[in-house]
This record gives sequence, structure tokens and C-alpha cells, in this order.
Amino acid sequence: MEKIVIKGGKALNGTVTASGAKNAVLPIIAASIVGSGTSIIKNVPHLEDVTTMNELLIQMGVDLTINDTTNIEICADHITNPKAPYEIVKTMRASILALGPLLTKYGRAEVSLPGGCAIGARPVDIHLKGLEAMGAEIHVENGYIIAKADRLKGCQYYMDKVTVTGTENLLIAATLAEGETILENCATEPEVVDLTKYLLNMGAKIEGIGTSVLKITGVDKLYGCEHVVIPDRIEIGTFLVAAAATGGKITVNKVVPHDLESVLIKLRESGAEITVTEDSVSLNMHGERPKPVNINTAPHPAFPTDMQAQFCSLNAIASGYSIVTENLFENRFMHINELVRMGADITVSHNQAVIHGVERLNGAPTTATDLRASASLVIAGLVAEGISEIYDIHFIDRGYEVIEEKLSQLGADIKRVSY
Ligand code: UD1
Repeated sequence: MEKIVIKGGKALNGTVTASGAKNAVLPIIAASIVGSGTSIIKNVPHLEDVTTMNELLIQMGVDLTINDTTNIEICADHITNPKAPYEIVKTMRASILALGPLLTKYGRAEVSLPGGCAIGARPVDIHLKGLEAMGAEIHVENGYIIAKADRLKGCQYYMDKVTVTGTENLLIAATLAEGETILENCATEPEVVDLTKYLLNMGAKIEGIGTSVLKITGVDKLYGCEHVVIPDRIEIGTFLVAAAATGGKITVNKVVPHDLESVLIKLRESGAEITVTEDSVSLNMHGERPKPVNINTAPHPAFPTDMQAQFCSLNAIASGYSIVTENLFENRFMHINELVRMGADITVSHNQAVIHGVERLNGAPTTATDLRASASLVIAGLVAEGISEIYDIHFIDRGYEVIEEKLSQLGADIKRVSY
């Protein structure tokens, strides 16, 4: 087993490069199923979730080769087992992204029903209703979604809620459906846009890119292509918040600043000087204590739920009080108990955390409970006085590429230790 050990109190300083986006590469790898021939995906981050998605495709019969550390080649011409088994889905809910591609290309799919997860119930009803609207026959048997269709048919479908992977599943499914599909109330996250670009490169016909209404005209065949995955805005945001919390000064390279707008607004409000170029973001906190900032999570372009936990750590040591409201997931405050154990003054009521900033946090052993909660504990450890240990770091490895190496590069005293 491994844990992360941090000696807090050092301001981050220096330059770091962002990795490819986890939430873009996962649907892109899944979407490779619909292409004939080989796709080459570049700027792939080295993450547990990517390994899981690769294993999922390999056990289906997909020919998948990792070329070097950041490129993979995928050929899904000979899928023999269009199934996402429970053993894989239980470790990664994003496995549901195999459903749309398998069904539209092979006319059948079996995907284990994802259960709830640490941050809430997370149903997939919208994915299923949308595919049914395209003519799929779907039933649930022994914990598996069994879906069949001769060929999916275009339709008009309004999603009750804005769902990222729901939009992605239905978008991919529609690319090979017969006729025209209009998807309404789509997620507009940059990762959905990146997937759309990949599908367009494969030969798909999609209008409305980046908007909440996507019009897809089904084609008979799609082709493998090359695609470079966008940078991970959540990883970038996490480094920026870590620098702000420690009073530091950093530059993150390989960034699309526009995708981070709502996060940069909140960082400026917290007192950070932010400078952007075409592909970098610099933050300078001038050694000052952060000001408190209220956070209200909502679908893109509003403030992302995946940055909520990190801002809780920033607010925990801010010069005043703030309210953080989580509107997407019902159980996404598990980091709060751990922050309180480090000396934070936070109370949670329903979906709101009321945070009274304290002058300092104290190092403590803590346990990661989900991916972004673990990032908030790393940030808390970086600012705390003394030593912090973070257990259950497999959550961090799901979404952050060598986080301890990148933070060390910025001057943090952080290491991974086996025990
Ligand atoms: C994706 C991201 C995750 C991020 C989340 C919200 C990936 C792999 N993961 O998760 O990091 O936190 O978006 O930005 O991209 N819902 C339903 N029925 C459905 C689908 C969703 O009720 O069929 C609800 C969910 O419970 C939640 C809300 O819709 O309350 C948004 O969830 P959704 O956007 O689907 O999250 P994911 O796609 O799972």
C-alpha cells in the first residue's frame, strides 16, 4: 500500500505542464469503438481510469497498443465480446460510455449497471431513455443493462438534466443511427466538445458543436483518425488553487485558459493576480492570505463540481467566511470531515458548507474518499503546519498524473511512501 506524506508550509513556486484531460480521453477511447480502422489518440494521461478503460476495450477484443507514454492506437474492427463486466464497471462508472458505441456499431451491448458511488446515487436513466428513443430495446437483467437494436434511428430527445456522460453516450450512438437526431439540453463541457471534434474527424456529421442543441446526421461508416486530447482543466485548476492557498507564484503550461474561465474568476476574487497567454496561466498570490469566495456548482460554463473540494481547502484558510453550495451531487462533502480534523471550521447543512476561515491548519493523517476530495486533502496538507499523511491514494491516481512529482517540481515537500 502507498500513502502520500506532505510537510506543509512551503509556498509553491515554478512552472508545471498540464496533462491530457481524463474526462475527455475516457469518452474518446470509448468512441473509438465506432470507427473502422485505426485511431491514434495523443496526449493521453497516465491514469488509473485510463488503464481501466483500456482494459475494458481489450477484453472486448479491441486491438489496443500503447505506443509511448502518451499515445495509444486503437482498432475496434473485431469486437467479439460487446460487454462491460461488473468487475470493471464497479471500479469505474465511466465504463457506461461503452454502451452507446457498442449498441450503435454492433447492435447489442451488455453493460453492468453502475451502482451508486462515494459522491451519490448517480443514475443513468437519461442514457437509457435516450437510447430507447432511438429505438433500442433495453432491459435490466441480473444487474446488467442488456441493449439491442437492428440499427438505431434518429429522433428528437430532450435530456431532463444536463448530463456529461449522458450527452456523450447519446451523441456517439447518434453518429451511426439512421437519419437525423436532435439532442436538446446537452452538456457543453470542453470535454464534450473535444469528443465532438474527434467524432467529426472520424467522419461524423454534427452541427451545434459546443452548444446545448446538437444535430447529428447519421452516417453508414466512421473511420479511425488522429486526435490530440485537450489539457485537463481540473488538474490545472487544482495546481492553481494549491498555489493560491500557499501564497505562491506558478505558471501552468499547455492550458486552454478559456475553458477555465469560472475558476479563474474565483481565483481573482480570492486575491490572486492571474495572467493568461494563449496556452498558459500564471498565478501570483504575492504571499497574501486568500480572501473567502462563495462557490455555487453548476454545469459548464458555470463553476465545475470537480473544483468544489479544492476551493473548500482554499476557503478553510481564507480571511473570512464563505458558503460553498454543491448542486450536482448529493454526497460530495466527504472531504469536510477530514479538513475539520486538520483544524478547519466548517459546518455542512444539506448541500451547503459554511466555512469560517482559520489562520492555519494542522498536519494530520487523513483518508481520501473520492478523487477530488483527495485533491483537497493534498492542498490542505501543503498549507498545514507540520506533517500530513493521506491514505487511500488510489483515488488520486485515478485522475492525477504523478501529482507528487509535479508538486515537488513546484517546490512542495511531498512524497509517496510504501507501507
Ligand atoms: C461527469 C464527469 C465528472 C463530473 C460530472 C459533472 C466524466 C467521466 N465524469 O460525470 O467528473 O463531476 O460529469 O460535471 O466525464 N443524472 C441523472 N440521470 C442520468 C445521468 C445523470 O439524474 O442518467 C444526474 C446525476 O446524478 C447528477 C447530474 O445528473 O446529479 C450530473 O451528472 P453527470 O453530468 O451525468 O455526471 P457524469 O457524466 O457521471
